[in-house]
Amino acid sequence: MNSFNEQFTALQTRVEQWLPQYFPSIPDDEGGLVVEAARYSLLGGGKRVRPVLLLATSAMLQLPETEAMPFACALEMIHTYSLIHDDLPSMDDDDLRRGRPTCHVEFGEAVAILAGDALLNRAYEVMLSAIRPDRPGTIQAARYIAEAAGSRGMIGGQILDLSAAGHVLTLDQLRVLHGKKTAALLKAAVIAAVLLTQQTSSIHDALQRYADGIGLAFQIQDDILDTTADRLTLGKSAGKDHRDGKPTYVSLLGLSEARRQLALTVEEAKDALRPLLEAGLTIDFLHDLADYFQIRTS
Ligand code: IPE
Ligand code: IPE
Ligand code: MG
Ligand code: MG
Ligand code: MG
Repeated sequence: MNSFNEQFTALQTRVEQWLPQYFPSIPDDEGGLVVEAARYSLLGGGKRVRPVLLLATSAMLQLPETEAMPFACALEMIHTYSLIHDDLPSMDDDDLRRGRPTCHVEFGEAVAILAGDALLNRAYEVMLSAIRPDRPGTIQAARYIAEAAGSRGMIGGQILDLSAAGHVLTLDQLRVLHGKKTAALLKAAVIAAVLLTQQTSSIHDALQRYADGIGLAFQIQDDILDTTADRLTLGKSAGKDHRDGKPTYVSLLGLSEARRQLALTVEEAKDALRPLLEAGLTIDFLHDLADYFQIRTS
């Protein structure tokens, strides 16, 4: 195993250790069913890309892991809620997620909606508990994550995505959609670390460009995998963008041009890291993560 894979696995393991503690079970007669459903989706797999990215960026910027972890796990809770709702019959109507039946298939639609809500609320509780009034970065990071998850971020992207079904978008429109529905939360992982450590504007700008690039790259590869990968490898259904008439990089540009755009986007993201290198920061993990976003198979 190379050192990137080792580091990724180590960070994933840390996230797996903390997530159940941030979202503990409660007794059935206190509403435990909704927590059970939320934990089913939260703790049942997933690549943990967003919390890993937040922890890796924080580590590069010398923030102790204990200070980054609440924000990392909150972000994963928000992401998991977005997946539960994304899979609902009224949205993408999917039956498989993270290699298992989707939350609404397992628990019913009403419980799945509440499980998503519970994850979102718990994410804010965890972030608010990590606020330190003497550290303005903690407030700024929480606020940034909240905005990224909201109607100007992920939720905004989801409504654009639903409204776009059956329509042809321009590439610019699709970039905006992907920027909101997927890149916003990935970017929040990077920028939360920047805010928590109160970086200079040149580091902030560089990491912002990097995060925009990898965020878009992640969704381009998601679009590509939807047409090229199988259900077993993905752990979620394949071919559904075509089924639902969703505009994607592949539907707009074809597979080979989508791949070319993905490669260009990843190169731009890696280029954006140059000022960090000049500032003496160790960019290897973020650099290799951009490559991973291009070659990941699930
Ligand atoms: C899937 O996200 C939804 C998108 C935003 C493309 P991931 O591919 O990160 O899903 P998990 O968390 O690994 O299940
Ligand atoms: C989902 O995008 C983005 C979210 C905010 C959850 P997709 O609908 O393309 O994600 P998958 O393919 O179902 O994972
Ligand atoms: Mg969707
Ligand atoms: Mg979907
Ligand atoms: Mg998809």
